[in-house]
Amino acid sequence: MESPIRIDVSLLPPATRHDTIFKAYESLDEGQSLVLAVDHDPQPLFYEFSHKYPKSFGWDYLDKGPEKWRVLITRQQSITDRIVADLVMEDLSLGKVFDAYGIDFCCHGDISLEEACRRQKLDINEVLVAMKKKSGPGAFWQPHFEEWSVSLLIQYILENHHSWERHALSDIEDLTIKVADHHGADFPNLKKVKEMVDHLKYAIIDHFFEEENELFPMILKGSKSVELLKEIEKMKVEHAEVGAILTDLTLFTNNFQPPQQACGSFRLLYSKLGEFKQDILQHIHLENTLLVAKAVA
Ligand SMILES: [Fe+2]
Ligand SMILES: [Fe+2]
Repeated sequence: MESPIRIDVSLLPPATRHDTIFKAYESLDEGQSLVLAVDHDPQPLFYEFSHKYPKSFGWDYLDKGPEKWRVLITRQQSITDRIVADLVMEDLSLGKVFDAYGIDFCCHGDISLEEACRRQKLDINEVLVAMKKKSGPGAFWQPHFEEWSVSLLIQYILENHHSWERHALSDIEDLTIKVADHHGADFPNLKKVKEMVDHLKYAIIDHFFEEENELFPMILKGSKSVELLKEIEKMKVEHAEVGAILTDLTLFTNNFQPPQQACGSFRLLYSKLGEFKQDILQHIHLENTLLVAKAVA
């Protein structure tokens, strides 16, 4: 048997680790594995894998710390290639979703999900979203944040939201400059969009700095001091500021709807802004509610 690729991300900057791992994983053929070595429990990465590659990867710990964690990650068949009947056998709740979409998982269930959607002329992404909502625990990623330790929650926020949003902001900034340069004369609103994106970027960068260097270390130390409460209040004020910029941007761009004549880059920019807004809103919700509750408990 072919030996798996080995990848040690311990020495890489945290912000680049997940991208490096996903690139290595996506370069695997079905059935191939990689061995990931890292200096902390990569549990948040497992959840991100579950989200990105539902029911289509293997995850086996080879070492569980305390200094080194090693996981054998195996690329399996994509969920869209899985047999419909098998999916229902594994998770009976999916039967209701398939019923609702007219997908036969019984007598004619020996076809892939992709094929079943094609035959029924269904949008497979819509079906996947419905499956995700309905599916039982474990079939898709159903995070139970309330059961997590505060350190795991912070690790998750840093590795998923902060890291992803930093990358996304950088892409959005580049795209905004490009679109404003090329189309600013035809669409004067783009100048204002660029100003708003700049404003958003600086507000978020400052906010992340504050959380990563002040608030999160205080929480991790178990502080229950007045300073902690002040930092939490500061965090909430900054969240409200970011939320206000995003609301303005949403209104100004008509909920990120590009004009009819907009080119591909213009459309991509608005689509990325909408996606970014969703991620930030989840992120803020997680911090304002669960993280605060755990920090002051
Ligand atoms: Fe945050
Ligand atoms: Fe925050």
